[in-house]
Amino acid sequence: MFPRDFAWGAGTAAYQIEGGWQADGKGPSIWDTFSHEKGRVFGDQNGDVACNSYELWEKDLECIQQLGLTHYRLSVSWARLLPDGTTRHVNQKGVQYYSKVIDDLLACNVSPMVTLYHFDLPQALQNEGGWTSPGIAAHFDNYAKFCFQAFGDRVKLWITINEPQVCAKLGHEDGIHAPGLKEKGTAAYLAGHNMLRAHAMAWSSYDSVYRPKQKGAVSLAINSDWFEPLHPGSGEDMKAAERDLAFTMGWFAWPVFVTGDYPEIMRSAVDAQSEKLKYSGPPRLPTFSEDEPAILGTADFFALNYYTSRKVESGGGRGEGLCMKSDRDAEEVLDPSWPVCGVSWLAVVPHGLRKLLKYIKDTFNNPAVYVTENGFSQVGPPQIEDVQRCEFYKDTILEVGKAIEEDGVDVRGYFAWSLMDNFEWADGFSVRFGLFHVDFSDAKLTRTVYRSGREYAKIISRYKSAPCKGEQLAIRD
Ligand code: GAL
Repeated sequence: MFPRDFAWGAGTAAYQIEGGWQADGKGPSIWDTFSHEKGRVFGDQNGDVACNSYELWEKDLECIQQLGLTHYRLSVSWARLLPDGTTRHVNQKGVQYYSKVIDDLLACNVSPMVTLYHFDLPQALQNEGGWTSPGIAAHFDNYAKFCFQAFGDRVKLWITINEPQVCAKLGHEDGIHAPGLKEKGTAAYLAGHNMLRAHAMAWSSYDSVYRPKQKGAVSLAINSDWFEPLHPGSGEDMKAAERDLAFTMGWFAWPVFVTGDYPEIMRSAVDAQSEKLKYSGPPRLPTFSEDEPAILGTADFFALNYYTSRKVESGGGRGEGLCMKSDRDAEEVLDPSWPVCGVSWLAVVPHGLRKLLKYIKDTFNNPAVYVTENGFSQVGPPQIEDVQRCEFYKDTILEVGKAIEEDGVDVRGYFAWSLMDNFEWADGFSVRFGLFHVDFSDAKLTRTVYRSGREYAKIISRYKSAPCKGEQLAIRD
């Protein structure tokens, strides 16, 4: 039983689908730079063309309609709208492109959920230090205000930043995402801090200036695995699982939903390591200034990206020096009973989503929740008859249903990742998450529905036409 107005969606992100990397005055982003460097992406592939949604948007819209989605989550490219990242110069062609996308969606009765930042910082701002520079927050706020002004009459669901944890860690600690920094144990915390400041400023601008008229809702998309102790009886493993949750979800959710500051478990773990390793630089996990918009309360709903689960035991990264892994001090392992799909990190654990949703309800004061990403990958020769992915979606949506019905979690929507196969970051086009297959070897970039796309469409139409609980009761009365 899903609520009548439940959002049934699918998502994409600008750099992963649009192509047109230099079209009509778009500025370069850090992913343009990064993917053009040798050895960064599988097969040295890049998103120069990707699904060419910049030119083929109408084809995407056909896919959206074929699925019967009520919502579509897309991201806008900062550098397409503001080529040097600032409002000094506006690319009107970019504004027109997104305006048309939004108008077309609404004309088809599909509500857009728009992400302002999905990993693609304008290169010009990276040249000023990117997310590690404090000034980035004001740049982001100006960009967000520009978007609220341009599209907020029609867009009612906003995500400021997608997966700040991934962006901070993979881009600044591990160096496997743009901008490719490997400043272990420092830069990721700083980048994450500035993302929280940027998010809070943008939310506050929306709240005070745009919300009264536009009446929308704004949040940030927080990614997390579900973590549980490897040995449930072990106190050490239980603490390690708690630390892992704190360093992924808590890092961003705790300041926004609970205290306005980082989780205590995280701060004490980082401080303890700094002391142990005789680190003498500025505090690695910064503190928030009283003179800036408060972080607490800056989300109108909880946006969760969930993909997988991990078992955790204590003791990770020991002897590796200053790095996030040694701060976390947790080793993550896969339960051998969990099937792995496509990529090695993606164990298929639908029930982990239900557990995480319950955890969110209990920990963050029962917020409205949207599952803004969840999906199943495929590698090797394309299989249009993707039976396993069909099962995955059925099982996962059932778990979301149980979270609503049995655990009382206020889940408002579910967005499959992704509408179609696309540029999967460092994995290029070798990993496919789509509900539609895209033939990248054909200049037309033909979109073909996977069996899982047909299955998802069936699920959506069944629930859209089913009477909701309240209505059934009313009939009986
Ligand atoms: C997320 C990301 C998406 C997509 C997905 C699958 O971390 O937001 O852009 O790539 O992972 O790996």
